[in-house]
Amino acid sequence: MAAKSRKKGAKNQSTGVGYFFAFLCGHLYSDCMDELSTLCARVGETKLREMVAAFYRRVRVDDVIGTMYPPDDWENAEKRLADFIVYRFGGPQTYIEERGHPRLRGRHMPFSIGEAERDRWMKLMGEAMSEVAVPAPEAPIIGTFFAQVADMMRNRPG
Ligand code: HEM
Repeated sequence: MAAKSRKKGAKNQSTGVGYFFAFLCGHLYSDCMDELSTLCARVGETKLREMVAAFYRRVRVDDVIGTMYPPDDWENAEKRLADFIVYRFGGPQTYIEERGHPRLRGRHMPFSIGEAERDRWMKLMGEAMSEVAVPAPEAPIIGTFFAQVADMMRNRPG
């Protein structure tokens, strides 16, 4: 009997620990998820699209990364990036509907991207964010996301 209740107690205890970790992980997970997926609602789709337009005004004339982009397809390139950002930040799913899974690393493979290209992309996007005045609480979250993705796009040493 004593053994039985010990067993029962142990079971309850482990279930309790399990619930605690499930709660903790779920809580942390949903916090991370929410941070990006509410950005479109918080910043506004219009401002996100203005930010991408300001970015592409700079890319078009940039000596480091400008030449990588298709010169006869600027409008669509701008739309692809804007649609992606809007979708990734919890807005309309147009990007997924039109382009499917982002596969960003694969889609950047045709271009030689090292530290110089990554840093230039980030510089131009930083200027674009300032130009359209992305609000203070959201700007660092967006900046961190861009920095992480930009770093993942590197496909050559240096
Ligand atoms: C690290 C420096 C980067 C360089 C040099 C770079 C360069 C390029 C180029 C040349 C294209 C092709 C343009 C087109 O025809 O659409 C492109 C596409 C794209 N890039 Fe980047 N990119 C960089 C970082 C990023 C980052 C940080 C993101 C996301 C936050 C991003 C998202 C995209 C998207 C969504 C597309 C369109 C993909 C598609 O649907 O075809 N890129 N990029």
